[in-house]
Amino acid sequence: MSDSKDILFQSYDIGSLTLPNRVLMSPLTRSRASQPGDVPNDMNARYYAQRAGAGLIISEATQVSPQGKGYAFTPGIHSSDQIQGWRKVTDAVHKAGGRIHLQLWHVGRISHPDLQPDGAQPVAPSAIKPEGAKTFVSAESGMVEIPQPRALRTEEIQDIVDQFRKGAQNAKEAGFDGVEVHGANGYLLDQFLKSGSNKRTDEFGGSLENRLRLPLMVVQAVVDVWGKDKVGIRVSPTGSFNDMYDENPLETFGEFAKQLNDMGIAYIEVVEDSFQGNHADGRPEEVIDAIKAGFKGTYIANGDYSADEARKRISAGRCDLVTFGRLYISNPDLAERFRQNAPLNDWDGDTFYGGDERGYTDYPALEEAEATS
Ligand code: PHB
Repeated sequence: MSDSKDILFQSYDIGSLTLPNRVLMSPLTRSRASQPGDVPNDMNARYYAQRAGAGLIISEATQVSPQGKGYAFTPGIHSSDQIQGWRKVTDAVHKAGGRIHLQLWHVGRISHPDLQPDGAQPVAPSAIKPEGAKTFVSAESGMVEIPQPRALRTEEIQDIVDQFRKGAQNAKEAGFDGVEVHGANGYLLDQFLKSGSNKRTDEFGGSLENRLRLPLMVVQAVVDVWGKDKVGIRVSPTGSFNDMYDENPLETFGEFAKQLNDMGIAYIEVVEDSFQGNHADGRPEEVIDAIKAGFKGTYIANGDYSADEARKRISAGRCDLVTFGRLYISNPDLAERFRQNAPLNDWDGDTFYGGDERGYTDYPALEEAEATS
């Protein structure tokens, strides 16, 4: 297939950014920030620069505050060391010709007192323990059970918005091209969105309008910092990871999409089929329809697609761009491999989280693979 005919390699404009292709790198937790301080380092910069051929890189989830941390070794964007660390990453990616957004993250209840300032109890919309959810608090701990969180008091909600605002400002200082709000996978904003985890009786819970309120306030705060054309959001309407459930994802995410559309943000990235589990069948087309009916900006699909499935879905108008996760872990030059229809490296699940350069920066690109074979 020649390039001009291959839809994956038709350029695409998001706001002021022109993406040279539609093969995007998803946000991927890799748990390799330097300690103490959860600071991005030279090895992280090398990893992202190796993947600069992606149309757009979305960074791993990055905590906006100490309270927003839920796993050992994940990076933050709240200290000056972290900002400087991320600056190394954005410089390396830009030097390699790439573009990178930062994913802004607050984990809410998916945490543990051992990870919280002063051993505090993690916070959530409601004091509901995520059954079966686990995290790791240190290299030695192994996976540990997540305890019951405490419900945020109404007067604490504004502070959550301010944490995201500050994270967005810091991301600007660190040289990112834009930001993605993490509204997916059972973390704080998803906990507010979905009926199973939000049983509040104040203006931040109960009705659909109330469940959407905090996520919309956060997006507005981030838009105030970056401008709407540099802001996206990730959602996972039917994901069950972290004990999530919504009784009416069509209604919840259809309405959320409409309101995000009114705010004019650049894109919505939808986890259509979570590798961590779905409470509806994966890729339910009706939820995708409901979101597309409400949101007229760029629609980014995520869901374990192959290159050919991605081409088909873009051609059929089901999405504009596609993010690839595990394939980008093991193929630093994934876009180029798709272009050439070249074979793909397999990934090693044992090295996804934590550790050193093994399973991180040592996956070969095409020329290296050819040179050593
Ligand atoms: C994880 O660390 O398992 C993780 C983090 C962020 C996500 C999903 C999974 O969005």
